[in-house]
Parts: sequence; structure tokens; C-alpha cells
Amino acid sequence: MVIKGEINLPGDKSISHRALMISALSQGKARISNISTGEDIISTYNCLKSCGLNMIYQGGDVIKNGGKLTNPNQPLDCGNSGTTARLLMGLLVGQGISATFTGDSSLSRRPMLRILKPLELMGLKTKRNNGRLPIKTDSNKLNGIKYSSNIASAQIKSSILLAGLGATGPTFYTEPFKSRDHTEIMLKNLGAKISMRGLTTTINPLKKPLKKIKIDIPGDPSSAAFFAGAAALVPGSKIKINKILNNPTRNAFFLILKKMGVGINYINKHLNEGEHVADLEVYYKKIYSVKIGQQDVPSVIDEIPMLAILATQANGCTVIKGAQELRFKECDRIHAICSNLKKMNANISELEDGFIIEGPTKLNGAKIESFGDHRIAMAFTIAGLISKGSVVLDNKDCVSISFPNFFQKLKKVAK
Ligand code: S3P
Repeated sequence: MVIKGEINLPGDKSISHRALMISALSQGKARISNISTGEDIISTYNCLKSCGLNMIYQGGDVIKNGGKLTNPNQPLDCGNSGTTARLLMGLLVGQGISATFTGDSSLSRRPMLRILKPLELMGLKTKRNNGRLPIKTDSNKLNGIKYSSNIASAQIKSSILLAGLGATGPTFYTEPFKSRDHTEIMLKNLGAKISMRGLTTTINPLKKPLKKIKIDIPGDPSSAAFFAGAAALVPGSKIKINKILNNPTRNAFFLILKKMGVGINYINKHLNEGEHVADLEVYYKKIYSVKIGQQDVPSVIDEIPMLAILATQANGCTVIKGAQELRFKECDRIHAICSNLKKMNANISELEDGFIIEGPTKLNGAKIESFGDHRIAMAFTIAGLISKGSVVLDNKDCVSISFPNFFQKLKKVAK
């Protein structure tokens, strides 16, 4: 079996969330094409509808026909989606909306104090509930703040920037390392007064609605990572992934693959609504280990499960450090990666903030515990392409969180 052919992928999940949310502040009709098909996006869509936006799905597009944000009369169910909970809370409190945010059992274990603390400094009134969902926010006029976060997180940054749009004065947000910047790019493109200088972003209160949104969302590089990873693992493979997001805060996985020795070509590079986009060719070549440190982590955070699988086949010792944020994702991903790879015979040692993998080792088939985490399920499915004996997932359905058609797409290119 080899990985061969050409694929198109559903739109980037991070940009899809932002386009839906920001459409609440934009004038007229919005059209969002090639939106992510993941369940997380349906969570954002349903929450915004509960808050008064008039939205419909039409083919692969979402159309916002109008509507104005109002207090929802039911709790906002954010499902499994940290981005929905954190960004929506910022957006809504900035617009003076009171709401209760809930989520599934995984999301209800994830930390929310990281956004509540800066939002409270802006004037938000809330019962903290130990920093876990469900959280009820009370409407209150917000003031601008100067805030320096010690976590490199686009969710925290975006939550505060979106809240800042409704504050009485400017907000200055500084992050320790650069995290994904789609909120900044989209807001700037739509006419918000926002400036980015180094690690500090300044946002000014919105005085008039943002410009009309019409966007064709580029393919999701985090979904592309599984196909690129498959091509990099199976000898003789070559795949082309069309129109994927090539934002420098998101393409680190592919640059790391190149550094490991994988064949990587970007072609047809262009800009789409301020975002870099390109077609990507990936072909098999022998791979070598890499070292990933704290400053590299934010731009590869979602691709680390796939990177771990690759590291088992790389010659040498791969070290991933400074990635403690992985413990706060949909599951504790450091534990999920290490426990499952051990079952498959990888030579892996767990660290508090990452892991060390000595390669190459022949992987055995195993029963994989996905912990209900879409990216763990997809990464280990790819590991199964090269294992001796089958990989059996305890839960295949969780891939729908970001990529409902994952197995069908994989079947098409695994020939
Ligand atoms: C996201 C930011 C990242 C990422 C997540 C999506 C976003 O989370 O892991 O999948 O869309 O802003 P953190 O901000 O917690 O690092």
C-alpha cells in the first residue's frame, strides 16, 4: 500500500470558528464557504443561533442573513470545543450579553481561569466555579486592559481581543510566544482598529460594524498533517493537498517534516483574505529525528500527536519539550501519546512537558485508547498503516469533532 493522489480538505477549524463569531459584528449578509465540517463548528453555529443570529447551512456554506446578539434563553452548549467556549465568552461579554456556558465531560475538565482572570480585570462579573464549566457570565460594561499572559494560547488572546471590541478603551495583549493569529488577520481585514507589534496586539473598541464577510476558507493544515504524515511514513508515497492554509503560525509541522528529511514542496502560493494559502506536495524520503523546544510548540501544538508517530520511524532521538499545554487539550495528550505508543513497542519516555522517542522501532498493532480525542484517534490510525498487526481504536466516532470524513478520505488515497 502507498499513499497517492490529490485531496481537498474541509476548511480550517480555527478560521471557521472565527468567521462565524465575527460575522455577529459584521454588516449585512455573510457567506462562509468551505467551512469546517467538524462538530466543534456546529457547536459554535448553534450557540450563535441561540444568541439571535439568523444563520443557515446551504450546501457547504454558512450564510448569516442578519440578526442581532441577544441574551440566550438556554445555556450555550459548547460541546467538546475549547475554542467555542473561550472565544465566544470573550465576544459575548464584550457585547454585554449574559449567558451560561456548558460543555461535555472533556470540556468541563479544561481550565477556564486563563480567560476568566483577564476578563474579570476588564470588569466581567461571574461565579468562577473553580475555573470549570458550567460558567455563568453577567453583562457588564468592560474597560480596556494591559495584559501580559504567561501562556502562549490563541484562545486566550482571541477571547480578550474579541472582548476588547466592546470595551470602553483600548486593550493591549502580550503573549510569551507567537500563537496563531487568525483573529487579528480577520479583524484587520474587516476594518477593525487593531495593530500587531512583536508579541503585543492592540485592539480598539469597535465604533461601527465590521465589513461584510465573504470568505472561502482554506483547507485545515491540522487535518492535512495526518495525510502528510501518512505519505512521510509509507515508502513510495506521494500526495498533493490542495489549497491549504499556509499561515506561518500554523505551518510549522510541514517545516519540521522538511527538516526531518521528508520531501515537501509548496506550490501556487497566494493570499486569501489576508491568509497565506498554497498547494502542498509531500513525498516519502528517509527521516531523521528533530528537537522541538518551547518556542516552537504553539505553531505545531495540534500536530504533536502525528509528529510523535513520525518520530518512532525517524533515525535518532526526537525530543519534544516545553509542550505542557498538551496536558490541557481534549485529553492529556502527553499521557495518551506515551501510553499508546508504549503499547505499540515504541521506545518513548514521558516527561512532564513532552517526551523523548528513540527511533526507528518497528511498531506492533495494539488496542488504542483514544480518550475520546479526535487527534489521538487520527494519529494512531496513521500509525496503523505501518504497524505489524492492526491498530484497533476504542472510539472511531470522535474523529467527527474536527474531521467527519477522515476515514473515507484516507481510504481514497491509500492505494
Ligand atoms: C486554537 C488554539 C489552540 C489549539 C486549538 C485551536 C484556536 O489552543 O490547540 O486546537 O482556534 O485558537 P490554545 O489556545 O489552548 O493553545
